[in-house]
Amino acid sequence: MCRASEPPNIVLIGFMGAGKTTVGQELARLGGFRLVDLDALIEERAGRSIPEIFARQGEETFRDLESEALRTLAGARRTVVATGGGIVGREENWTMMRRLGKVIYLRVRPQTLRARLGAGEGRPLARRPGGWTETARLLERRIPLYEQADLIVDNEKGGSPREVARLILQKLSEE
Ligand code: S3P
Repeated sequence: MCRASEPPNIVLIGFMGAGKTTVGQELARLGGFRLVDLDALIEERAGRSIPEIFARQGEETFRDLESEALRTLAGARRTVVATGGGIVGREENWTMMRRLGKVIYLRVRPQTLRARLGAGEGRPLARRPGGWTETARLLERRIPLYEQADLIVDNEKGGSPREVARLILQKLSEE
């Protein structure tokens, strides 16, 4: 819940490699927010890395841990949450994200994502046998979900993370 005088929390969504953490850091710096990187929070709570969680416990358990981590943020204030790319897959996550604050989709073109993701180091879902074809399919399936955000902001090569963060803060202040 946010008070009239306080800026809303910001929840950044988007595909792997969209720059959620980097833009989140700039938003935190410029807007005086606390930054929560949800993947880092999951790892901290689980005591193991995301690739380890996927390998030992599987994706469904990872998704449970992801929803639980998001749940711990209820009531947060002046916070930017950089989520993982798959957060949009569960309806309950949407309820929690919308309760938290403004949901912003950082949109990046497939070719740019492909270049940024490279070999998918540290990202189990970008390292599957099907290679980029498989990853691109996942992206296609998720785009309509990302587009349910309150605001869509492009994060292509041209703009620096700081410029993108400034644009987001400006758009929010105009609402
Ligand atoms: C995932 C994205 C990752 C991480 C996990 C699953 C996904 O986060 O949560 O590997 O399903 O797209 P980033 O989007 O920060 O890479």
